[in-house]
Amino acid sequence: MHDISQYQDFFIDYLKKQDIHKEPGNLYEPIEYILGLGGKRIRPVLTLMASEVFDTTYKTALPAAMAVEVFHNFSLVHDDIMDDAPLRRGQITVHEKWNLNTGILSGDAMLILAYQYFEQYEPTVFRDLAKLFSKTALEVCEGQQWDVDFEERNNVTITEYLKMIEYKTAVLVAAAMKMGAIVAKTSEKEADLIYDFGLNLGLAFQLQDDYLDAFGDPETFGKQVGGDIIENKKTYLYIKALEFSTPEKADELQKLFSIQLEDNSDKIEKAKAIFNESGASKATQETIEMYTLKAFETLKKMEISQEKKNVLRTFGENLMDRKV
Ligand code: IPE
Ligand code: IPE
Ligand code: MG
Ligand code: MG
Ligand code: MG
Repeated sequence: MHDISQYQDFFIDYLKKQDIHKEPGNLYEPIEYILGLGGKRIRPVLTLMASEVFDTTYKTALPAAMAVEVFHNFSLVHDDIMDDAPLRRGQITVHEKWNLNTGILSGDAMLILAYQYFEQYEPTVFRDLAKLFSKTALEVCEGQQWDVDFEERNNVTITEYLKMIEYKTAVLVAAAMKMGAIVAKTSEKEADLIYDFGLNLGLAFQLQDDYLDAFGDPETFGKQVGGDIIENKKTYLYIKALEFSTPEKADELQKLFSIQLEDNSDKIEKAKAIFNESGASKATQETIEMYTLKAFETLKKMEISQEKKNVLRTFGENLMDRKV
């Protein structure tokens, strides 16, 4: 096994070698732009790591890792349109830098590009990868639709929220890991266990994303802080704040989340204060830790060396402590 920063380097080297630029420029330049903006590269690193957990060199997993990262970036381009987001990774979003139609079509092209990377595998591996990927991609769409539907609702339950984040985010983290298992041709049992590990990490990851969206440092976060509050997103913070608050405070929060304003700074400050005072912020942190520990429980069931378990565990711990 290598360490996490080495996997990142291997992936970035591979990414740089890809020849994405073609005509027409207005289709391919936004693709190069978003892929070049960086990001944490969590999903491709997980694919590479998983292949080596199952004793296959990361090199075999590079095209699958690329597919996952291209798909993830496609989902971000469309997500930023849906969330009306101005900033991504500290830079202007694709649909704002170009326009809406460019965001839609370059995004579509990325989805197809992602699938093309599977063509580099032999037929049985190709089939297994494509099957998992199609299922996952459809679930991401379902999760994204719920996310948007919930903006208009004020009675979203924690169960509904957890399903939504499982679909929009956790299944892709889980699939990224299982793809490493597939290219390594490991047993179905181990592949399912690593999927389960990824799923729980993915839930913790989205909870942390929601937390940082409200409480991240605007200097380093790379996205518009408070974006979820502006868009009336029904996050864990919001749902728990409603549950824990007095009827008066809950009413105030619901009112705040039923409006669209020109200037949102007041709304953001008020919502954040209620998240903190109600104990919702603390509850979110505890739940992040709970899902991370749940992921670590799955590791115990796996038939891999302690050294490999430690690498996976370190990855989970780093995710929990992240600030971006
Ligand atoms: C952002 O994903 C979208 C979510 C599912 C929360 P990341 O936080 O992994 O984004 P990058 O790729 O590092 O920018
Ligand atoms: C993103 O959720 C999930 C997908 C992109 C599929 P968010 O909307 O919370 O992601 P960010 O915060 O914009 O990165
Ligand atoms: Mg978003
Ligand atoms: Mg979104
Ligand atoms: Mg977010």
